Amino acid sequence: MKIGFFDSGVGGLTVLYQALELMPKEDYLFYADTDHVPYGEKPKEKVKQYVTEAVEFIAQQGVKAIVIACNTATSIVIEELRHKYNFPILGIEPAVKPAILESKKQQKKVLVLATRLTLQEEKYRNLVRSHDSGNMVESLPLPGLVELAETLEFADEVVLPYLREQLEDIDVKQYGTVVLGCTHFPYFRAALRKVFGNQAELIDGSVGTAKQLQRLLGNRLEEGNGTITFFESGRPILDEPKLSKYRRLLNLLGEG
Ligand code: DGL
Repeated sequence: MKIGFFDSGVGGLTVLYQALELMPKEDYLFYADTDHVPYGEKPKEKVKQYVTEAVEFIAQQGVKAIVIACNTATSIVIEELRHKYNFPILGIEPAVKPAILESKKQQKKVLVLATRLTLQEEKYRNLVRSHDSGNMVESLPLPGLVELAETLEFADEVVLPYLREQLEDIDVKQYGTVVLGCTHFPYFRAALRKVFGNQAELIDGSVGTAKQLQRLLGNRLEEGNGTITFFESGRPILDEPKLSKYRRLLNLLGEG
């Protein structure tokens, strides 16, 4: 059986990429909700409805697990989904805890980059509250990076001015770690590195999520064919130009 991956758009590929590295023989179903991306600036109730419908669609295709490869969707609806299905559902959340541990060593702060919706949610605020006894964690929404990834715009000439503008009033040297709390952001690692310099560690949860999936599947890992079936908002992607877009993005992550 396949493993389902869900995101609002192309961000989920950054998690799928890590799963493919660890479990290349599994068969995957990747679902991007392209009709409704971006989620991060939309009302919570709308996003909840989109995710619930998409996950039901994926479940009906017959999967042995679903990864909600989207921090925003996870923060809103993961608990409900876990109760609804009898196969494992994994989410992803900003890697706040490891970031705090790392920044403490350097006596510096943590900056969490995510969508506005993720940062507003109770789940995120609880996460910070339970680990951040020293008030080290700050956050910044970067919706522009979601838009840039969706339009496949990765050129430094475009990305760097956006990042510099968003960080204009912030002293980037105060951060020991920067959390990439949105699955669209790992595409911009190189640009973020240029802006934050070498002293800050960039942490994202994609490797951890892939490892957790592997552990969770345990003896249900199987010798599949390593296929990926793509869907966009419930429609199977069969045409070559669209398929090659997804393959190109996976390759891009391999280069980074
Ligand atoms: N990729 C998603 C995340 O991890 C959401 C991006 C969006 O649709 O705004 O939060």
